[in-house]
Amino acid sequence: MSERDPLVAGNWKMNGDAGSLDLLLDGVLSELSVLALRRCSVLVFPPYVYLGQVAQKLRGSIVGVGSQDVDQRTQGAVTGGVSAAMVKDAGCGFVLVGHSERRTLFAESDELVSDKFEQCGSQGLVPIVCVGETLEERRRDRTIEVVTRQLRAVTSRVGLAGFDGAMIAYEPVWAIGTGESATPEQAEEVHAGLRKCLAELDEDLSNRTRILYGGSVTADNAVALFGMKNVDGALVGGASLKANSFAEICKAAEES
Ligand code: PGA
Repeated sequence: MSERDPLVAGNWKMNGDAGSLDLLLDGVLSELSVLALRRCSVLVFPPYVYLGQVAQKLRGSIVGVGSQDVDQRTQGAVTGGVSAAMVKDAGCGFVLVGHSERRTLFAESDELVSDKFEQCGSQGLVPIVCVGETLEERRRDRTIEVVTRQLRAVTSRVGLAGFDGAMIAYEPVWAIGTGESATPEQAEEVHAGLRKCLAELDEDLSNRTRILYGGSVTADNAVALFGMKNVDGALVGGASLKANSFAEICKAAEES
């Protein structure tokens, strides 16, 4: 039996400003109040500078707040750095680590991603580790090898206890922001592979860990994706910037 209720997370990336994000949140809250969700959890990931504002507005609501990243260090002479303790202090409960844009644009290695994951754990924050293959890797039939390597880098660092409660987001790099989502079958195959990898560590942990899919999720493809046994929700980029499309995805998750 699975204990995995669905979860939908909106990754706002580097978009919006104080006013527009406030309006977006108003829209999301009003759409969600109509849905009266019982099973589906909802999170949003604003840019750092708006974390406090968003967390304050969402206090007492059903929507949780997370940070898109954190620094791997705890404090000190790190100009521009933001620590796990700081995002927690700003009201976050969750953190994305190893998003492919961080891995590519900021050259984050598996090791650095594991450092960040570990920092989140030390602050009691729930990390969502993002994994995914490039188009080239998929063409060479390396998908499972790549995503399990990315996952194992973290699990071998933090162990069973350190991974408990965390989540995984499978985001094929070729599907992010391209309008070309993985098919439900492609997603399911990789999610099942990731779950098998976790089961090598611990069967129960594997059964209770949520694995989200990300990469051009829309209101149109969400139902089919959520119909897959090992797809426990979504990490949504572009479609999370419109209240109605984000709410539609939450509705699909709720009814999955
Ligand atoms: P997308 O982004 O939904 O715009 O493809 C997903 C993500 O990067 O998390």
